[in-house]
Amino acid sequence: MTSSPKTTLTVQNLGVTFSDASGVLHALHDLSFTLLENEFVTLIGPSGSGKSTLLRVLAGLVPPTEGNVHYNTAQPKVGLVFQKANLMPWRRVIDNVGLTLELEGVSRETIHDRAMELVKLVGLEGFEKTYPQDLSGGMAQRVAIARSLMQDPDMLLLDEPFGSLDALTRERMGDELLHIWQARQKTVLMVTHSISEALYLSDRVLVLSSRPGTIKLDLKVTLSRPRTPDMQYANEFNILAQQLRQSLSEEIETL
Ligand SMILES: Nc1ncnc2c1ncn2[C@@H]1O[C@H](COP(=O)(O)OP(=O)(O)OP(=O)(O)O)[C@@H](O)[C@H]1O
Ligand SMILES: [Mg+2]
Repeated sequence: MTSSPKTTLTVQNLGVTFSDASGVLHALHDLSFTLLENEFVTLIGPSGSGKSTLLRVLAGLVPPTEGNVHYNTAQPKVGLVFQKANLMPWRRVIDNVGLTLELEGVSRETIHDRAMELVKLVGLEGFEKTYPQDLSGGMAQRVAIARSLMQDPDMLLLDEPFGSLDALTRERMGDELLHIWQARQKTVLMVTHSISEALYLSDRVLVLSSRPGTIKLDLKVTLSRPRTPDMQYANEFNILAQQLRQSLSEEIETL
């Protein structure tokens, strides 16, 4: 008998409202979903539907206005990666990767060993002493991913991490991310605007409605793993892509 997978995160009836002098803006409304341990889930939705806001709530940076967010551990560790790597230009690759642990006062030796292991994992061995100005966009994003893994997070939140990369680099980075995910066994929630990227990478795709964002579709990706580039031309892939496209275009038409 196989045991059922554990839940990493439960979001219940989440609502987020921003208010300032100019008025009130409902960013998210009545959003509920769960993420299972080691699950790779992507989040797709129109611009302004609250995807980044949701990630910021899950990272504890924005408080929910309504509902709640519950992790299955008391003090969850969350790694965040944004569209821009935001590396510190005066620090070498290895020192950018190690930064978060330095702030926690962990010994230099432990930080160095762990950072070096992650530099290798993201395929940057040999570049550990390089400064950010000498890295390509894809390499800088690999540093940002390595940095987010330094604290061995329970959950990895990725906000359009490959959005500024060219198409081929983006595809390669997707494969590398799958490799990292398989090696490190993390629960991943990743925002993307690309239907094919969402399907290629994830176990499930959540579609957000236009603002205020709520879950419009929770699509199980039935493709087998490991994923290979030729799957993108298969019938099964196209059927799923059509379902996503239909769901998204209904939202964009209502904008
Ligand atoms: N701190 C804030 N104060 C006020 N309004 C905000 C704040 N953060 C986000 N918003 C608003 O909330 C809405 C959702 O923004 P959010 O950045 O989450 O959208 P998104 O889905 O990530 O969009 P995109 O695809 O363009 O990145 C937008 O209308 C935005 O202007
Ligand atoms: Mg966003």
